[in-house]
Parts: sequence; C-alpha cells; structure tokens
Amino acid sequence: MNTKVYGHRGCMGTYPENTLVGFMQAIRQGVDGIELDVHMTKDREIVVIHDEFLDRTTDGTGFIKDMTLAEIRRYSAGVRFSHYDQFVDQWRLEQVPTLQEVLVLLKPYSIELNIELKTTKFTYTGIEEAVHQIVQAYGNNRKVIYSSFHLPTLLRMKRMDPNADIALLSKGKLSHPHEYMDCFQLEAIHISKNAILNNVTNWKALLPSLRAWTVNDTNDIKQLLDLRVSAIMTDFPEKAVFYRSER
Ligand code: G3P
Ligand code: CA
Repeated sequence: MNTKVYGHRGCMGTYPENTLVGFMQAIRQGVDGIELDVHMTKDREIVVIHDEFLDRTTDGTGFIKDMTLAEIRRYSAGVRFSHYDQFVDQWRLEQVPTLQEVLVLLKPYSIELNIELKTTKFTYTGIEEAVHQIVQAYGNNRKVIYSSFHLPTLLRMKRMDPNADIALLSKGKLSHPHEYMDCFQLEAIHISKNAILNNVTNWKALLPSLRAWTVNDTNDIKQLLDLRVSAIMTDFPEKAVFYRSER
C-alpha cells in the first residue's frame, strides 16, 4: 500500500495553519488526508487551532478555554501569516474555524481526517463526546482518526465508540510499541519522523502502522516513502505528493 500524504495543520508551510483556506489548498495539492488540532471554548464549541491560546496564530489574545466562540471569532486567523511569500490580503478575513465548519468544507472530498485532541495542558471535560458528536453528524462516514499525546483521551474515545480509530502521538520514547498497539487497540502510532529515521530497526515491524510527523525535508520524505510508513504528515504536501508520484 502506498504511503499516504497528510497536510499538517492543512498546508502550513505556505498557507495560514488550521484555516479553511489552508485546508482547501491542501486538497488542491492532492492530499489523502488532513491533520488538524482542536480545543474547546468556554461555551463548549470545538475550534480548530493548534495552541491553547490565540496569541501566536491570531491577532487576539487569551486562552481558548476562557473565551466564547463569538469572542474568538472577532480575530483574524490569517493576518499573522503576512510574512509568507504569497500572502494574500483575503487571508485577513480567515477566522478560527469550528470543527463542524471544516467537516462541511470537506464534504465533497473523499479524504481522511486526523483530529488531534490537544488535551495535555488543560482538561476540557467532555471534549471527546463533543468531538465525536460533530464527526457523527457532519463526517459523512469519512475515515477519521482521533489522535492525542494524552492516552486517557484516546481511551475515553474508544470506550464511547469501540469502532473509533485512535492513534497515540509519540515523540518516540515508547518501549515495546507493539504492546501499546495491542493493549490500547490503537489503529496507528503517530510518531516523530526522527524516532523512525534514527532507529529504523526498532520500528521495522510496525512501519505500516506508523504515521510520521512532521516531514518537510526532501530526503526525509524520500526515505519514509521508501520505508512505506502508513502516512507522512507534512507542511508541504505538494512536495510529498510529487516525490511519491516519482516512485
Ligand atoms: O499530529 C502530528 C503533529 O501535529 C504533532 O505536533 O505540535 O504539530 O501538533 P503538533
Ligand atoms: Ca497536530
């Protein structure tokens, strides 16, 4: 099976991360899947943003957990990317999207979706149920993989829906990773690319169950394609799609 290409936070190497315009660009570049990050607002809406706070990626400030969706929507999720080469003024109009809006955007496209639940720093009580409900309502039966660095989040998701695909995020320090796969019924491990590339022998038996992040360097892309990992997540999907087509 060919290695899949996932657009990391959409297409964040060239477009504002975790925005609708970025997700559309990733689709145009031929991705098989999209990776995004979610948090829960004060009024229990699920929003797509990487950090626990607005400050880095928007012109707003404050923690997601302390703000309502309406408050978060006052700010631009595109303006901070004005240093990008092909910045277009229209990006200023991008807002932090809800998960529901992303799923509606993806509706015409049969691509996979990896939802990373950012639950390591704060406890968002009920986030698993809220995310799952939105996916059930708007996911159009697409393949959805729930990932997290926080194992309890994944186990809650699996307990709620035994058919849910869950993937543990890891920087690589997992001893006996196949035991994690078995014990926690993981669909995959989402592992930092260096963990694989620095110790291929350790991961050899699991390569078809590994999605590697974040793979931007051309040589790394080529090596991981040759190793036939399940997927690579990249900020530059066009590049990865191109090198895959050459193989
Ligand atoms: O899902 C892989 C990767 O996205 C994890 O790192 O910080 O980009 O969310 P981060
Ligand atoms: Ca992520």
